[in-house]
Amino acid sequence: MESLTNHWNGIFQKTDEEKLGWYETDFSQTLKFIDLIPDWQKAKIFVAGVGTSGLIEKLLKSTAELYLNDLSSAALEKAKSKVADKERLVHWLCQDIAQPLPSDVRELDIWFDRAVLHFLTDDNCVEQYFKNVHAVIKVGGYAFFAEFSKAGAKRCAGLDLRQYDTADLEKRLASFELVRSEEYTYINPYGAPRPYTYALFKRVK
Ligand SMILES: C[S@@+](CC[C@H](N)C(=O)[O-])C[C@H]1O[C@@H](n2cnc3c(N)ncnc32)[C@H](O)[C@@H]1O
Repeated sequence: MESLTNHWNGIFQKTDEEKLGWYETDFSQTLKFIDLIPDWQKAKIFVAGVGTSGLIEKLLKSTAELYLNDLSSAALEKAKSKVADKERLVHWLCQDIAQPLPSDVRELDIWFDRAVLHFLTDDNCVEQYFKNVHAVIKVGGYAFFAEFSKAGAKRCAGLDLRQYDTADLEKRLASFELVRSEEYTYINPYGAPRPYTYALFKRVK
């Protein structure tokens, strides 16, 4: 069977960015949540699976320091073109987010995940993912998620996925308190509605 890494590399090598089913140019829904975080412009932000998201360019307009991870080296190669002269603010990681993160990635301010967690379908992988969240984000930090909701699609990018509501996320985030959540329907480049759960949590212990 094709490895997950090859699967994602193949997608990023073969598909123009604007044709990806999660491509967006309007980041206002995400930024509405990020703007709830005081001083996020100076934060250390970990991005679980950055893909080729144009959000990088928006975040790099500030002095935030970004830890950009993805399983796919092909995605990261493309993402590099979006960093331009802000390379000094970026740390690159290329690993499965369901594996432990390097021990020097610690005490960060914000965990950011749009459309990555929902691809983890194995219980052990989900468990390790949330161990990573707890290992990396300091007390007082935040975790943001945008995942397919219970009303959402059951597959994406040729893969099965798990759907999330706010309560599912809360159960996994015992040391965090919910700041805000809402359902949001993203319309993909083919005009298809893709309902998401958006949620922001603050680490309190
Ligand atoms: C649907 S895309 C979303 C990309 C980006 N977050 C965005 O909003 O445009 C999912 C991304 O997660 C990455 N990914 C999938 N499974 C992963 C895993 N287990 N570990 C790290 N990255 C993963 C893929 O390579 C892809 O870049």
